[in-house]
Amino acid sequence: MSIQERLDYLHELKERAALGGGTDRVKAQHERGKLTARERISLLLDPNSFEELDALGADMSDPSSEERLYGDAVVTGWGRIDGRAVCIFAQDFTVFGGSLGEVVSEKIAKAMDLATKTGVPMIGLNDSGGARIQEGVGSLAGYGEIFYRNVQASGVIPQLSIIMGPCAGGAVYSPALTDFIFMVNGTSQMFLTGPEVIASVTGEETTHEELGGANSHASKSGVSHFTSEDEQSCLDDVRRLLSFLPSNNMDDPPTVDTGDSGERILSDILDILPEDAQNPYDVRDIIERLVDNGDFMEIHELFAQNIVVGLARIEGNTIGIVANQPLYLAGVLDIDS
Ligand code: HXC
Repeated sequence: MSIQERLDYLHELKERAALGGGTDRVKAQHERGKLTARERISLLLDPNSFEELDALGADMSDPSSEERLYGDAVVTGWGRIDGRAVCIFAQDFTVFGGSLGEVVSEKIAKAMDLATKTGVPMIGLNDSGGARIQEGVGSLAGYGEIFYRNVQASGVIPQLSIIMGPCAGGAVYSPALTDFIFMVNGTSQMFLTGPEVIASVTGEETTHEELGGANSHASKSGVSHFTSEDEQSCLDDVRRLLSFLPSNNMDDPPTVDTGDSGERILSDILDILPEDAQNPYDVRDIIERLVDNGDFMEIHELFAQNIVVGLARIEGNTIGIVANQPLYLAGVLDIDS
């Protein structure tokens, strides 16, 4: 094969890889109100900043097959958000339901190693049915590699998990080890296994949403930290959260010129605070007056509503806020709060 023929062949493989599981499956993904892995990456990252890694790793479900899928069920690499470097993986549900086999786990582990070594946030866009059944124990070993890295990176770099589809098994164990979980209302779920398996094992009928939908995890289990109405606003929230965070544990959070002054007098706070301590008030009204431009990113908005936690800025510097919320349970502390 001449050099030109080799280059043409590589180009053809890359084009095949970019199609994921094929046009019919991409169409089905769109019909469910979901974007593809590559569309999500391009919405999340700064324009033209994405550099892909391992684009041609092919699936190992049947290594002798002519039909092996190049790129397998994940797109990995690095790029920028607001000019700052991040590492990223996006699972591709159009390829074997985004399930994780040997090659997928190797690609994700490499991106995680790159994030930890260079001290930049690791972002996982999850849309996966968990361990790939066809690859058996190789898939489980692959999850071992990922969980180990989640734990090693904990407290060193921010790890963000975005749940963008029906995620099961290992595809939710790893996010549960990360710092922040984002979910999309109606299209993303987190469960150990789907409703069909539950019904056949326990006889209990349930739905995807009831079992692991965004609302269940935002309000009941507290597993998810942020809920969005669609994928675009979810990815916008990811960018916003990162604007408050340092890239690693040796770094300072970014300082932003908010145009707000630390000398500003909060004259109307006394109108909000009731004279009688028995009267409830919404502590968010105080927080919004206190922080720069009222810009407060609440975490766990629907969980343990007797405490309000989140991130904001004062004089352009990131601060964390923990506030009792007299509006719920008189602001007492319980286990969830
Ligand atoms: C291989 C999988 C798969 C998996 C889905 N697919 N999950 N292939 N391994 N784990 C494939 C389906 O066969 C199907 O292929 C395509 O992906 C789309 O899946 P559907 O079922 O059609 O989609 P949907 O109805 O949306 O349901 C999605 C789902 C469901 C809820 C994720 O597929 C499901 O329940 N999958 C099994 C989930 C599960 O039990 N995972 C746990 C694995 S164990 P075709 O070709 O038919 O379109 C695990 C343990 C880790 O992860 C432990 C680590 C130590």
